[in-house]
Amino acid sequence: MSRNRIITIDGPSGAGKSTVARLLAERLGFEYLDTGALYRAVALYLRRRGVGEDVSDETIEELLRELNIGFSGGRVYVDGEDVSEAVRTPEIGHYSSVFSARRPVREFLLSIQRAHAERCDTVVEGRDMGTVVFPDAWMKFFLDASLQERAKRRYLQLQRKGINVTMEEAVRDVQQRDERDSQRDIAPLRCPTGAVYMDTTSMGIEDTIKKMLEFIEKQAAGSCTGY
Ligand code: DC
Repeated sequence: MSRNRIITIDGPSGAGKSTVARLLAERLGFEYLDTGALYRAVALYLRRRGVGEDVSDETIEELLRELNIGFSGGRVYVDGEDVSEAVRTPEIGHYSSVFSARRPVREFLLSIQRAHAERCDTVVEGRDMGTVVFPDAWMKFFLDASLQERAKRRYLQLQRKGINVTMEEAVRDVQQRDERDSQRDIAPLRCPTGAVYMDTTSMGIEDTIKKMLEFIEKQAAGSCTGY
């Protein structure tokens, strides 16, 4: 078990986890780990190696043996190359959801995620942070929002990056990812036991962070460690 304080933030696509986790980490002076970026980086790597959805577990395992993945200062690296922008396309979003259901991919990233959070107090965000990767985390949150709201956020995010999708495509994409991420056999998306559930449909980023900080303060007072 880690001696550092780990705050987990889980939730479906487009619930605002990344922005909230990054800002929360900044306010608390914690490190920040975006595990979705790691799954996206693996997907990018496998796609570059010409891998499709029907690839065998053995081939994935073999290819992952040669992969060096890193996350530092909010950037994600594949064999030393900064791929933070390259992993944000709708295509890689799709494949990250597909490949994240595969056992060798989850096993490969499990130790990387734990090793990262071993070093210092960390805010980690993803789909299975409080359930599988850090079940003994100091504090757990589950961020949710309505499908329409999450699709709208995803749509605006892609528009800002100059990636053109229609609102209908954004809704379909978020819906498909919800299904795949919550219905897979290994580490499906679930609200972890003991997590604070927050519906952010009509909450802005600042309100969400304020509310989370209130819970964290209570937790810190209870465990006498402060932050
Ligand atoms: O949060 P994101 O959209 O960047 O994540 C991309 C995909 O990675 C998501 O569809 C599911 C997968 N993922 C996962 O299975 N487990 C995590 N801890 C984080 C992401």
